Amino acid sequence: MKVLVYGSGGRDHCLADSYGDSQHVDKVYITPGNPGISYTPKGKRGLIEVVKLENFNQVADFCKEHEVDLVDVGSENPLEEGLIDILSERGTRTIGPKKDYVKLESDRAFTDDLLKKIGVPIPEYRVFDDPDQAKAYVRNIGYQVVVKANGLAAGKGAIVCEDVPDAEAAIDQIMVQKAFGDSGNRVVIEERKYGDEISFFAYLDGKHVLPLRMFARDYKPAFDPDDKESIEKFGGNLNTGGTGCYCPHRLVTPWLVNRIIKEIVNPFVNEIYNALGWAYQGVVYFGLNLDPYENLDVFEINVRHGDPEWEVIARKLSTDLFEIGMAVCDGTLDEVKQVWNDQHYVDVIAMEGRSKASRGWNKGYPGRYGKGHRILGLDDVERGVAIYFAGVDENPEKGLVTYGGRVLHVIAGDSTLEGAREKAYRNIVKISFEDHNNKNDSCLRFRKTIGL
Ligand code: GLY
Repeated sequence: MKVLVYGSGGRDHCLADSYGDSQHVDKVYITPGNPGISYTPKGKRGLIEVVKLENFNQVADFCKEHEVDLVDVGSENPLEEGLIDILSERGTRTIGPKKDYVKLESDRAFTDDLLKKIGVPIPEYRVFDDPDQAKAYVRNIGYQVVVKANGLAAGKGAIVCEDVPDAEAAIDQIMVQKAFGDSGNRVVIEERKYGDEISFFAYLDGKHVLPLRMFARDYKPAFDPDDKESIEKFGGNLNTGGTGCYCPHRLVTPWLVNRIIKEIVNPFVNEIYNALGWAYQGVVYFGLNLDPYENLDVFEINVRHGDPEWEVIARKLSTDLFEIGMAVCDGTLDEVKQVWNDQHYVDVIAMEGRSKASRGWNKGYPGRYGKGHRILGLDDVERGVAIYFAGVDENPEKGLVTYGGRVLHVIAGDSTLEGAREKAYRNIVKISFEDHNNKNDSCLRFRKTIGL
């Protein structure tokens, strides 16, 4: 069988890797992919091949010419642009929602209203199209808020605020300075919740639901809480798309999984299948908060796997991913058996840190960051530790170089969480990003508290 993964980040590399592990699959294509993938064992053997295709029609033609059996679309933008619709019309089997259903992620206000209507717990929220009205609201409510761009923002469109000036600045950043482009024409202002974040996934096949009985913890803030110096320098502990992750989440218990399914997943799925009449086929990601009183709240819904959550959940999942994918297409998810191995996994993301620019300094991700830094030490990483590439490029002289803020994921497994943490950290320090403008010092940065 042949699979094509559409995407270029760590999650998409991981999806390609998992399909490559399937007993049914002998070829995985990934497009646009990234040059790092060709440096991995499956890339070198040609089991995973990066292909360059210019547009969705070329993807559709490629799938027909190469008799691709299944296409998995990793990220929200191609879903919103209708890649699934184009492929399905051409008779290719796909995983991922049709364009119209991406609204669940691309229109927070729509989804919050839907959840509220069906009684699924969500934080208090209000929606604004006008920055002055939004500011007047945050000046009056008295509690802390999270200001969110209404549209797609690659998982980064939420600004967590300490106080009113913070909230006003966030409104300006999103609505006036357009930090997330037109996605910020409208904002959703939500009550800030405290507690434990949970990333929970369920597969849907248009008729059934397969909630994964395993969940992960993402670390969105850019810096460790005790890294006061960086937090001050960046004007706050900015939210990123994720700086690391671990699985199983320390809160995974059968009873909590059942509660999530009963209180959140089932009413949601019932609404979209039966009230909206949507034959949604793909994954739904529920971003949840469990507060100290054990109340659950949904703070986001996404129409794709989380990144980096998928990188750790996928390694723990022993069920063949191709079998899940085919069940999503065939409407047979009720027949799938979930099997989980007994390991713990930790993913630490290597980011672009402070580096020397031709003039002055780059602060590093999530601020302005440099690129083109040679990636060294990959061959020293222990066998069994997975590297998934994200923001990388290839240079004719230097080989693999950095290109994005989040460069690569180091994922280690062990029979204990502490063991997995130790292994991930002992390997990430073997890798460096050569800062050619600054005595070849390393400009790789990572958070030190992932899994704690
Ligand atoms: N890890 C957050 C996201 O995928 O949106």
